[in-house]
Amino acid sequence: MSLLRSSVLPLANVSRAFSTTTARKLAVAAEKPVLIKEFKIYRWNPDEPSKKPTLQSYQVDLNQCGPMVLDALIKIKNEADPTLTFRRSCREGICGSCAMNINGQNTLACLCRIERDTPKETRIYPLPHMYIVKDLVPDMTQFYKQYKSIKPFLQSEPPAQGEHLQSPAERRKLDGLYECILCACCSTSCPSYWWNQDEYLGPATLMQAYRWMADSRDTHKAERKAQLQNELSLYRCHTIFNCSRTCPKGLNPAEAIAKIKLDLAAE
Ligand code: SF4
Ligand code: SF4
Ligand code: FES
Repeated sequence: MSLLRSSVLPLANVSRAFSTTTARKLAVAAEKPVLIKEFKIYRWNPDEPSKKPTLQSYQVDLNQCGPMVLDALIKIKNEADPTLTFRRSCREGICGSCAMNINGQNTLACLCRIERDTPKETRIYPLPHMYIVKDLVPDMTQFYKQYKSIKPFLQSEPPAQGEHLQSPAERRKLDGLYECILCACCSTSCPSYWWNQDEYLGPATLMQAYRWMADSRDTHKAERKAQLQNELSLYRCHTIFNCSRTCPKGLNPAEAIAKIKLDLAAE
């Protein structure tokens, strides 16, 4: 009883408790030494098409900033330069919208920790070999068009009764495939995709093609395979594995592509 009573503070005490905590936090933050990090960020404005893209430098005190590169970008935009343009939404590796090239690696800015222990600047570019809308925002039109082309949904007649059933073993075949967030880090790290983007579907779309080919409930496997049975859509993959190395979700699109090739070879 007394425990319960003492855990419920009167309103005045509650606000005092909050302000004391806030004051303590501020005091701790104020004590931290300044730790400046330089961020060099790709800038290009479509409203000034004659101007070449540039790298713009920003200084951020890491002790006044969250730990991820996305935190630094948001801080720069909020406090230093509102014109800096980038996509982001979930800030936890779910939406795929903050994909960009950070220090030479395609990744998600919200999952990429700022390197605190090196005086080297952090360089940030948009995903490579894409048309650019502005600054760090790539044009995803072709990527989504390709994704749409593989019909990324269940194609099946409605079951005579009840729901589509799937055994646990059949369901497990989709693990490592369905988790893809379509961030395009893999496709834009693939040399074959760089040079043949118009025809080659690229690892992200191909992995989703396989995701539906591997689904026991889907009855359109023959059409799905026929769509890939040509020189360009699939076979431009030369198994270089850049895609699997770069995937920020730890997925393996190169393996999915190899499985499609095996399936087609077995026909
Ligand atoms: S394995 Fe294939 S899809 Fe992946 S990077 Fe290499 S060529 Fe591209
Ligand atoms: S496979 Fe990985 S890198 Fe490629 S789109 Fe999906 S989540 Fe992104
Ligand atoms: S903000 Fe959604 S994945 Fe980074």
